[in-house]
Amino acid sequence: MNRQWLYAKQPQGKIGTDTFQWTETAIPAPKEGEILVRTRMLSLDPANRAWMMGKTYRDALEPGQVMSGFAIGEVVESKVPGLAKGDIVEGDWGWQDYAALPARRLVKRTTKAPLELLIGPLSVTGLTAYFGLLEVGRPKPGDTVLVSAAAGAVGTMVGQIAKLSGCRVVGTAGGQDKCDWLVRELGFDAAIDYKAGGVRRALAAACPDGIDVYFDNTGGAVLDAALSLMNLRGRIACCGNVSQYDVEKPAPGPMAVPGLVVTKRLRMEGFIVMDFYDRRAEAERRLARWVAEGRIKAVVDIVDGLDKAPAALIGLFEGRNRGKMAVRVS
Ligand SMILES: NC(=O)c1ccc[n+]([C@@H]2O[C@H](COP(=O)([O-])OP(=O)(O)OC[C@H]3O[C@@H](n4cnc5c(N)ncnc54)[C@H](OP(=O)(O)O)[C@@H]3O)[C@@H](O)[C@H]2O)c1
Repeated sequence: MNRQWLYAKQPQGKIGTDTFQWTETAIPAPKEGEILVRTRMLSLDPANRAWMMGKTYRDALEPGQVMSGFAIGEVVESKVPGLAKGDIVEGDWGWQDYAALPARRLVKRTTKAPLELLIGPLSVTGLTAYFGLLEVGRPKPGDTVLVSAAAGAVGTMVGQIAKLSGCRVVGTAGGQDKCDWLVRELGFDAAIDYKAGGVRRALAAACPDGIDVYFDNTGGAVLDAALSLMNLRGRIACCGNVSQYDVEKPAPGPMAVPGLVVTKRLRMEGFIVMDFYDRRAEAERRLARWVAEGRIKAVVDIVDGLDKAPAALIGLFEGRNRGKMAVRVS
């Protein structure tokens, strides 16, 4: 059987287990030009929640469809030249055991690494950190780099790449334990518990020379505080807005925009990782080398079982993960 999670209904406020519905159906048969893929791991991303709110950089989720999500799997049967049984592929085929898909919706993975790394640090997560920081944030040695949701999938990679770039690195995360861990295990220079309050004061103390690059994963209160501490010609890489995804109505944007952007000549730039996919191979090679050489710790947080996917996604919004949260399906 093909076990699936359907997207059942649009949440009003926080997602809950009733946002999803479990179903079992027959394993699909691939048509000419298609591949039957078996899911090995599912990537859980804050964006999964954002897709429920309406059209973003992709179409909104529609109730009744298989819950969308990025996955990595193994080819079981191929009716396409160039892809064969046993090949490892990635794509967005959602929360299910099997999917029959045309080749254009899959990317074949040839990097030799465990699936736990291929689902995040050596894929979307790592690439988001790499391009967002280096191409949008453009840090220089000696710069102070701030990253929010620093203990998460993208944040852990951003902080470590910024350290490799010769920067002073400050993170924000929920809870003192996570903050201590960022400094002790990942080499951050300082970390601020945004849930403890007084974010602006704590950031000002942790960034005595101001902030040159802010890698914004959260928006909300940390963005407000960071704006006032940015240095002249600072760069804000707008990666995501996780503080506003799991809410009924997003809060208004910061009042300091555009005033501080003008006076400090800031560059505030949004990006989607796919914008850089023509350079994906180069970035993947560098990330894989940094991980293999131990210069970057690839942190993954694996949950076992497709049945646990809804709870794991809910957990992302409660900050239960450290590093990349993924579900091992088979
Ligand atoms: N632009 C792109 O192409 C792209 C690609 C991938 C991801 N993203 C974005 O990157 C960001 C991070 O994604 P990720 O996959 O690395 O997820 P993640 O950081 O591993 O997980 C989400 C984290 O967000 C924090 N969080 C949850 N609710 C929050 C709130 N209300 N305020 C502040 N922090 C909150 C939690 O950590 P705490 O314990 O710190 O609260 C949680 O661990 C997201 O905004 C995502 O949409 C963008």
